[in-house]
Amino acid sequence: MNKLRICVAGATGWAGSELSKGIFASDDMEQVAAISRSNTGKALGDVIGVEGLDTPIYGTAEEALQSHPDVLVEYTKPEVAKSHILAALRSGANVVVGTSGLSNEDYEEIDTLAKQINRGVLAVGNFALTVVLLQKFAEMAAKYIPHWEIIDYAHSEKRDAPSGTARELANRLAGIRESQLDVTLEETEGVRETRGARMQGTQVHSVRLPGYVISIDAIFGMPDQKLILRHESGTSAEPYVSGALLAIREVGKLVGVHRGLDRVMNF
Ligand SMILES: NC(=O)c1ccc[n+]([C@@H]2O[C@H](COP(=O)([O-])OP(=O)(O)OC[C@H]3O[C@@H](n4cnc5c(N)ncnc54)[C@H](OP(=O)(O)O)[C@@H]3O)[C@@H](O)[C@H]2O)c1
Repeated sequence: MNKLRICVAGATGWAGSELSKGIFASDDMEQVAAISRSNTGKALGDVIGVEGLDTPIYGTAEEALQSHPDVLVEYTKPEVAKSHILAALRSGANVVVGTSGLSNEDYEEIDTLAKQINRGVLAVGNFALTVVLLQKFAEMAAKYIPHWEIIDYAHSEKRDAPSGTARELANRLAGIRESQLDVTLEETEGVRETRGARMQGTQVHSVRLPGYVISIDAIFGMPDQKLILRHESGTSAEPYVSGALLAIREVGKLVGVHRGLDRVMNF
């Protein structure tokens, strides 16, 4: 069996290094290239502490894509992610996107190219199984409960807001319906911004404070009762690895942009 050839953009980072270890431990894939500007020219294993992992690190996607990966995993920063994704598609690779912060408009542009050249992009705001379950439970709740809002909590240094998990959840709930506002934003008295941002029919609020890691509440309210679906992440990137490996294995079966890990899971 031919092994899948993988390039990880951001392979030296918090999430990318854990994934690179997972790829190294897998029998059906090999990491042929890594991207990190500050470690160009080194072997990945020397940087992330894995003996025998001699994948070369390149400073740019253009150089790394010369190794013709089957799949590029994007795990860097939102400001460079789109150019990495478009370059990977043009090189013939399928793409798994872990980076948060890309907009719906970005994904529309990526979708257009991916469909033109018959390649798949699987964008997953959060690869953790417990978040996939939260998404499914929230979709079920939105079918029965017309009022909801999302609050996303993170540490004070997280630059992107809302989180990829919150964006993806709002996107998913838009497929059910728009959340109902009994007082519209236009009718709000006082400071309208305190009602949060309306994203695809959902009010989204982002809290950024020291003391938080990453968590999210999806709050569904009905008269005299409410349902709060809460997810809390721990401090390691380990929970994201198995979901990302599944995405890598399955993305070649897709065409165009698909969002959410459950697109390739059996529910
Ligand atoms: N979907 C999920 O489940 C999930 C889970 C965890 C994190 N994330 C998201 O994944 C992204 C990365 O998070 P992280 O915590 O791993 O970040 P991080 O620790 O800061 O790592 C970023 C990585 O990207 C590289 N990088 C940054 N800018 C680059 C550029 N311009 N060109 C090439 N490489 C560049 C960095 O290397 P150099 O600085 O050396 O270039 C480093 O390897 C974030 O958007 C985060 O929100 C998603």
